[in-house]
Amino acid sequence: MTTWIDIGTLDDIPQRGARTVQIAGQKDLAVFRTGDDHVFALVNECPHKKGPLSQGIVHGHSVACPLHNWNIALRTGQAQGADEGCTPVIEVRQEGGRILIAQPDAMQAAA
Ligand code: FES
Repeated sequence: MTTWIDIGTLDDIPQRGARTVQIAGQKDLAVFRTGDDHVFALVNECPHKKGPLSQGIVHGHSVACPLHNWNIALRTGQAQGADEGCTPVIEVRQEGGRILIAQPDAMQAAA
């Protein structure tokens, strides 16, 4: 069963921007808000050389890595175009104005 973690409201994330979320024992996450108010969560590491995706530019449902400009699809974590690689995606949902992210599996096992 999925355990959900409340990380705040939509307004806590700038539109076409991101905020980072730290969960004990996990890699930092980047939670993105698109221009049409969709929310996505990825591990905050580019699949190329671990650039901080939370500092990238959100366009459509992708983010451009701030280091070498790879485009990463927010829904899948996949690099776009000729670039290859994938960043892990974390499940997110919005409920009553709150944003919830799925607790990573490793934590559930330890709980
Ligand atoms: S580290 Fe992201 S494009 Fe190179």
